[in-house]
Amino acid sequence: MDSFEFGKDQEVLVGLDTPDDAAVYRLGSGKLLVQTVDFFTPVVNDPYLFGQIAAANALSDIYAMGGRPLVALNIVAFPCRLDFSLLTEILRGGKEKIEEGGAFIIGGHSVDDDEPKYGLAVTGEVEADKLTTIEQARPGDKLVLTKPLGLGILATALKADFLTEEDIEEAISNATFLNKGAAEAAARVGVKAVTDITGFGLLGHLYQMVKASKVGAEVSLKEIPYYKKSVEFIDSGITPAGLHDNRRFLEEKVEIDPGLNETLVDLLFDPQTSGGLLIAVSENKLNQLLEFLKGQSPVAKVVGQVVAGDSKIRVKS
Ligand code: CO
Ligand code: CO
Repeated sequence: MDSFEFGKDQEVLVGLDTPDDAAVYRLGSGKLLVQTVDFFTPVVNDPYLFGQIAAANALSDIYAMGGRPLVALNIVAFPCRLDFSLLTEILRGGKEKIEEGGAFIIGGHSVDDDEPKYGLAVTGEVEADKLTTIEQARPGDKLVLTKPLGLGILATALKADFLTEEDIEEAISNATFLNKGAAEAAARVGVKAVTDITGFGLLGHLYQMVKASKVGAEVSLKEIPYYKKSVEFIDSGITPAGLHDNRRFLEEKVEIDPGLNETLVDLLFDPQTSGGLLIAVSENKLNQLLEFLKGQSPVAKVVGQVVAGDSKIRVKS
């Protein structure tokens, strides 16, 4: 070896260079290893549902790469002063979702902490020709979103006691819904560019996709699926800090047509937990994809399209 760059290896296909959903390492014989890790503080009060959401969220980055999860490791922070049955419930929810994804939890690590946190490191695999990344979106592709937006706002309102879990049952059940079926539908039609919507919101993740793919995009505000209740809280200012951070970060990158409903525009920046997939699909495969997505995702809507351009996103009516 005549040159060696720290942290680089020719078998690393997706690493620190691209902000993709997971890292990818070539194993040989056409197989790729896919790895991701994610953990966070509770987004709902019910520990079992929190465990489910955290696991569905961690698995999602494997699905966004076209991968199949194999094994997972628990990551746990838990205050010793709390009742340990809460932790048991978190772990039960996590285990159930990982197994629903066809994978197994094979270990983990826990620490004492002031605030509970839970998540997982997930390892999966994908055949080299099935890998989906954020850098393969092409002008003309339609953008399909598979879950509604607004969970970040609802979780904030829940934390502030403006809502109960029953009020946002639909949003919680969608957050526990695996992106497995949606990813399989994308693989069946041979889609190449996929990501999932999490902390950076729809526009943040779309921006990463258009930047990596060296294209632009248009988003149609009226097509955006969202939880009806979430908009009530935007107007009363009950919004997650992440929403405003995302909006600020994207200010120069997103062009918003004048006269649009500002409340709905805010939704496009709302950070999601275990959000849907964003799939860039060529127009001739669109109908087939939408057909395959039926029953495999809470919604499947065309919310915009990829256009030629330099990492610019335009939000239209
Ligand atoms: Co992701
Ligand atoms: Co992630």
